[in-house]
Amino acid sequence: MLTQEQNKRLTEVGPGTPCGNLMRRYWHPVALSKELTGAPVPVRVLGENLVLFRGEDGAPGLVGARCPHRGTDLSYARIEGGALRCLYHGWLVAANGRCLEMPGEPPGSTFVNKVRHTAYPCREVQGIVFAYMGPGEPVPFPQFPWVGAPAESVWAAKMLINCNYLQANEGNCDPQHLSVLHRFFKPVAEDRTFDRSRDMWVVDPAPNIEVEDTPYGLRIYAIRDVGAEQRYVRITNFIMPNNSSFGGSSVVDPEVKKLPENTYYHFHWHVPIDDYNHWKYRISYRIDGPLDKAYCDSLIADDDMDEHFNRARRLENRYLQTRENMAYTFTGMGHNFQDHDRFAVESQGEIADRTIEHLGTPDRAVTAMRRVMLRAIDDVAAGREPLMAHRDENNPLAELVTLGETIPTTTDLRALWRERVTQ
Ligand code: FES
Ligand SMILES: [Fe+2]
Repeated sequence: MLTQEQNKRLTEVGPGTPCGNLMRRYWHPVALSKELTGAPVPVRVLGENLVLFRGEDGAPGLVGARCPHRGTDLSYARIEGGALRCLYHGWLVAANGRCLEMPGEPPGSTFVNKVRHTAYPCREVQGIVFAYMGPGEPVPFPQFPWVGAPAESVWAAKMLINCNYLQANEGNCDPQHLSVLHRFFKPVAEDRTFDRSRDMWVVDPAPNIEVEDTPYGLRIYAIRDVGAEQRYVRITNFIMPNNSSFGGSSVVDPEVKKLPENTYYHFHWHVPIDDYNHWKYRISYRIDGPLDKAYCDSLIADDDMDEHFNRARRLENRYLQTRENMAYTFTGMGHNFQDHDRFAVESQGEIADRTIEHLGTPDRAVTAMRRVMLRAIDDVAAGREPLMAHRDENNPLAELVTLGETIPTTTDLRALWRERVTQ
């Protein structure tokens, strides 16, 4: 349970708020590259209305949506070189926020040098445009394992979630819900993802959960009893401040090829649009070869995601739940995990009221995540660099390991991931 004050401190992300200040110390995805088809794109990030565009040199730029002159919307602007030409009076606003031209000013006017517009540095990595919206020079781009990987080993998508980002963060730090929310009773014809590991989640619905602090956030162990002298261990990770990594559904069609366990994993990155909505960016990475992008697309888009990245199952249609489907799935909402998770977090309310919850033993990692976040918010408020946003050379992600494995009860859990790091 949190106080009202703590809940506000963790959930409000607008400019000048404590958590907004924290969020602005990190790179965040702001669009998929494929959204930049020519016209500038209006985007809303951390409560700020912005315009993303690709200059004629190919580089993405992200600037404030309202023209610095008198506020006309720059998402309608003409693109000229690496800048936007406002349609109203023709000011030319560059991707770095400088004004390059003001056609209405008299000859000799120096007004053009005095205006600075909101502008944020961008980087394009693996089909995603990222931005740094914080003060000063950007922190180094985080060294996720997929950053330098071949493009055919990485897949990215996004979907809309109509609630505060923190609820989704909490879902990612909550391994126990796998035994319930995502439970299938029997494989259905269209379900191509029913597999052995899912059975393990059901065998022991009360996993022992252990949490470790790491340089990037938290390493979370969910340990399930699966018969004599064996346990199924799943290691997932909370990555500051709104990201997570874990195993899960295959990245190639399992009917075509069965991949060895732990050769691929997923990232869920929850980027606030504002306090009440966020984008869930999903990045999948196969360590040892190409993934099947068409198959990955089918997993996230199979229920007709619309052109606004909004899946068909949503709050206004009660997630198309049917009692009939409950014979196959616990939720009655189909076989796609994305929909189950969306339902679970959106139906907590736009911003969950954490003053009325009752946290139990399996919520240990949720509590730990909030503690890590509150500490980082305090760090920024005190002028210190928060976790995962240091400007030194160390790679906080060096010991990021995601896995799911059945092991003898005698195996040391710490040895398990350390072995993976040194491989
Ligand atoms: S409002 Fe944009 S140039 Fe005047
Ligand atoms: Fe889930």
